[in-house]
Amino acid sequence: MARVNHKLLQRFIKLLGVLVVCITAACSPASTQSQLIKPTRTATAQAMQSTPQLVAPTLRSLAQARHFYIGSTVDVKALGDEPVYSATLAREFNMVTPEVSMKFSETEPQRDVYTFAKADSIVAFAQAHQMQVRGHNLVWYTDLPAWLTNGNFTRDELIAILRDHIMTEVTRYKGQVNIWDVVNEAVGDDGNLRDSIWLRGIGPDYIDMAFQWAHEANPQARLFYNDYGGEGLGRKSDAIYALVKGMLARGVPLDGVGLQMHISLDSYPYPQDVLANMQRLTALGLEVQITEIDVKTQDDARPMQAKMTAEAQLYGEMLQTCLSVTRCTAFVMWGFTDAHTWIPAYTGHPDYPLIFDASYHPKPAYYSLMQVFNQLSTLRSKPGPSY
Ligand code: XIL
Repeated sequence: MARVNHKLLQRFIKLLGVLVVCITAACSPASTQSQLIKPTRTATAQAMQSTPQLVAPTLRSLAQARHFYIGSTVDVKALGDEPVYSATLAREFNMVTPEVSMKFSETEPQRDVYTFAKADSIVAFAQAHQMQVRGHNLVWYTDLPAWLTNGNFTRDELIAILRDHIMTEVTRYKGQVNIWDVVNEAVGDDGNLRDSIWLRGIGPDYIDMAFQWAHEANPQARLFYNDYGGEGLGRKSDAIYALVKGMLARGVPLDGVGLQMHISLDSYPYPQDVLANMQRLTALGLEVQITEIDVKTQDDARPMQAKMTAEAQLYGEMLQTCLSVTRCTAFVMWGFTDAHTWIPAYTGHPDYPLIFDASYHPKPAYYSLMQVFNQLSTLRSKPGPSY
């Protein structure tokens, strides 16, 4: 009986692995996007200086070459605590969204007392790594400080509070944060405006006012309405469409709509409906972005491997859809590693909704996004804006 040479077999398997990675990612036509970089000044690198290293493409390099933004939220604690977190973030993304650090309760915990240290650290990180920051968010129905929700304020007082909050935050980051989710989740699942302290205390005008103030504070900023559950076609997306169309007709300074895209393996909009929705929004002259995608996996009974394959397919299809619309300018994930995702705390169950596993290894979803970028071998016809 022939004996297997284990060493040889191991080498063969290793080579096969390299080839598979090469075929799925780096060696397709877009590998022309690989950067030639000079080795760093270590002893080994010095010896290699005459032969520059070929660096495999990252999501960031592929997106950038196509004039596109690929992003993730930032968990400010992980950013400070884990070098692998910050290194992966800077390597793979050219856009970041603070996950909580720019929200109302974080930035104005007491009336007129502003705390920007955490948001500042994210903005500084982004600047150091030439990344765009999506400011998130200025007006929301939740994550509000107790002084505000318990305050029994009059309409005029609430208007003054909201105006001060928006003016202070947008002005602080003028020139550094030039894209904002001004109003977040103002439409309810039934298509009516959602009950909130703002709707109750000010009336529906609060939405137009918020955009006017943000524009006044930073006329260069691109201002977005951002929501979930209205990505495809249906009652809620019709309501969002009607809302933004009305705002434009009233001359409100609105530049875009953020489609959050918190989806799950057993519940997601059809990509062709997302495409149709993006097309009708961009036909109004608006920009669109996917702003918070993650894929909840806990309700699917299949084995893990099958779930990760299905997750990869969904990520790929949604990126593909966005890239096929010229004015869809960014694809932002609500986190990038399963080690830091909001879903387990939100649902009470473990989950695996992102593109890197908890040990920061790329998952099938990561390679799926790469493949979609690689298939788009030409540049997008119109460069995305620089914020
Ligand atoms: C979530 C954060 O991920 C959590 O850490 C926080 O406790 C609550 O908010 N839609 C949004 C985001 O617009 O701001 C939400 O983020 C997730 C849903």
